[in-house]
Amino acid sequence: MSRLIIKGPATSANVGPGYDIFALALDEPFDIIEVELSDLPGIEISVENNQTGIPLDPKKNVAGVAAQALIDRYSIKQGVKILIRKNMASGGGMGTTGASASATIFGLNKLLNLNLLDNELIELASLGEVASGGAAHVDNVAAAMLGGFVFVKSFDPLDVKKMELPEMPVVLAAMRKGQGITRGRITYDIGAEKLKEQMAMVAGVVHAVHLKDPMTFGKAISKDYIHEHVRGATIPGYWEVKKQTVEMGAFGCTVSGGGSSVITFCPKEKQDEIADYMHREFSKSPDFVRIYKTKVSNTGVQFINP
Ligand code: HSE
Repeated sequence: MSRLIIKGPATSANVGPGYDIFALALDEPFDIIEVELSDLPGIEISVENNQTGIPLDPKKNVAGVAAQALIDRYSIKQGVKILIRKNMASGGGMGTTGASASATIFGLNKLLNLNLLDNELIELASLGEVASGGAAHVDNVAAAMLGGFVFVKSFDPLDVKKMELPEMPVVLAAMRKGQGITRGRITYDIGAEKLKEQMAMVAGVVHAVHLKDPMTFGKAISKDYIHEHVRGATIPGYWEVKKQTVEMGAFGCTVSGGGSSVITFCPKEKQDEIADYMHREFSKSPDFVRIYKTKVSNTGVQFINP
């Protein structure tokens, strides 16, 4: 066996108040990543349906950077060919880069019989994220690797845990990242009172996941003091959509990952109506890409038979 085909799912990071520590996996959309060992050293990257100018230079590509980190750490002599088959729209905050990095590391671990533990797979994949976002976020890559709801229990040493969620219906408004780098404007300096409340809100999400109750979950993810006001301000209509979707029966709504995509959790019977409404509102924005009607998934990266 020298080549594997892997499905890498979209993910939504932060999940409300869990900035950089929570994420969850989605059933759709996903990319397909093919990983192959080669006798020629070096990393070769190709991308099918490359509508967003994904870099082919392995030093600038998340999957390439992650693969190189693994090659260096384990002194691998073989080369690696990575083919990314893009299905996912070019939305920001859907974990598209995390999906490629996770699938690549997952595939190499298998092809090279390294038997690495999940936390190391996640850590290696997160090194690839430096190529896209400038920081090694573990949230998206962890959700792509493990599926379900993931939380970082410890950064050093890295320890990520997975909890299963009900497969709640989701409406995802995929939007390109708007102008400006929002991450640099986010601060933890929110004052003692809000910080105390934020910690309670984080506990509330974990409690809701534990209960597996969509209503409690939706409420818990709908409030945040750290990133949501910064990202929400760059998404035209965000606060109104958030309010209206909940009035229409959604469990909850928040900014997906680094934005500008927006994620709404809702009952199945409300999904079409909420999707139509979000389409109407967000398609006015030049950053709008498309609406996905999908669901939470407890499955992360997985092999696909050729
Ligand atoms: N936690 C990261 C952020 C995820 O919010 O910037 C990036 O999608």
